[in-house]
Amino acid sequence: MAIAVYPGSFDPFTYGHLDIATRAAMMFETVHIVVVHNPAKNPRLTTTQRVELITEILKSKPGNFVVSSLDTGLLVDYCKSLGADALVKGVRTNVDLDYELPMAQVNRDLSGIETIFIPADPTHGFVSSSLVKQVFDLGGDISKYVPAEVVKALSN
Ligand code: PNS
Repeated sequence: MAIAVYPGSFDPFTYGHLDIATRAAMMFETVHIVVVHNPAKNPRLTTTQRVELITEILKSKPGNFVVSSLDTGLLVDYCKSLGADALVKGVRTNVDLDYELPMAQVNRDLSGIETIFIPADPTHGFVSSSLVKQVFDLGGDISKYVPAEVVKALSN
C-alpha cells in the first residue's frame, strides 16, 4: 500500500515525465503528481493549467494517480500530509543526479522520506521542459516530446 510523490515544475509535462510517472505507478499503489510552484522560475503555464493538463493526460494511463499542487512550504511536509512513503525522481544524466542528490539527502534528513531515482528511458534522455519551450518558440515540432494536450495548451 505504498504511496509515492512525484514532484516537479512540469512546465510543461513531457513524455519523459509521463514515462517516469507510469513506471512509478507500477511500483506504488498511489502516485501523487505534485506541481510545485518555484518562485525562481517564471512559468509558461499556470499551476492550474499544469494540474489540469497532467490530470487529462494521465486519465487514460494505467495507474492510480492523484494530481495536485504545492504553492508554499516544504515538499516533505506536504508528503507527510499525504501519508507518502517515498519521493520519486527521474534521472537522465549525471547532471540531474548532481542536482537531485543533495535534495534527496536534505529531504531524508528533514523527514526520513527516501527518494527513489528512476533512470530515464534513453528515448527521452535529452527531453527537458526548457528545451521543449525553446524548440516550440522557434517554430519547431514538439509533438515527439510532449503529449498532444500540451502542444495545444502551449499554442493557445
Ligand atoms: O522540475 P524541477 O523544477 O526540477 O523540480 C524541482 C522541485 C520542485 C522538485 C524542487 O524545487 C523542490 O522539491 N521544491 C520544493 C521546496 C522544498 O521542499 N525545498 C527544500 C528541499 S529540496
